[in-house]
Amino acid sequence: MKAQVVAALGAVAVLAALSAQAAEGGRAAPEFAEGKAVYDEWCATCHADSLGLAGTLALQTKYQGAIPAALALRTDLEPEVVEYFVRNGVAWMAPFRKTEVSDAQLAAIGAYLSAPLDKRGLTAAELAKAKAAQ
Ligand code: HEC
Repeated sequence: MKAQVVAALGAVAVLAALSAQAAEGGRAAPEFAEGKAVYDEWCATCHADSLGLAGTLALQTKYQGAIPAALALRTDLEPEVVEYFVRNGVAWMAPFRKTEVSDAQLAAIGAYLSAPLDKRGLTAAELAKAKAAQ
């Protein structure tokens, strides 16, 4: 009896942990973890999946929904394209200096934004949206 209660509590704890992870978005695969961390720090403030954000709203207007407006949901971004925009800026996105985002960090962002969708640590809802847009 006691063992069953303990086992049931264990299952509840595992489920709670899993649903918390799904709500926050899972972790990116280890090889893309640094890119996600740098992206979350410098880019997600304008480019996460919300039309209230400057970058996402601008890209929604630019592409009219033909591709996802949030950068992390896109599958068409090459690292070179990401590097070009980050170093040169566009519209009211200012260029990022190497003292802010180093070349190595920028390469990591480029790898993250071109990683397979299921390795990016997206939430279940984001992943579904990104796959639907492919
Ligand atoms: C202050 C808000 C802001 C921040 C921070 C920001 N961006 Fe942007 N970003 C924008 C805006 C606005 C655009 C322009 C969209 C347009 O062309 O109208 C843009 C455009 C882009 C584009 C071009 C996409 C396309 O298809 O035209 C890329 C790539 C990009 N940003 C990457 C990044 C990355 C990577 C970071 C972090 C290092 C970043 N941005 C940080 C606001 C921001």
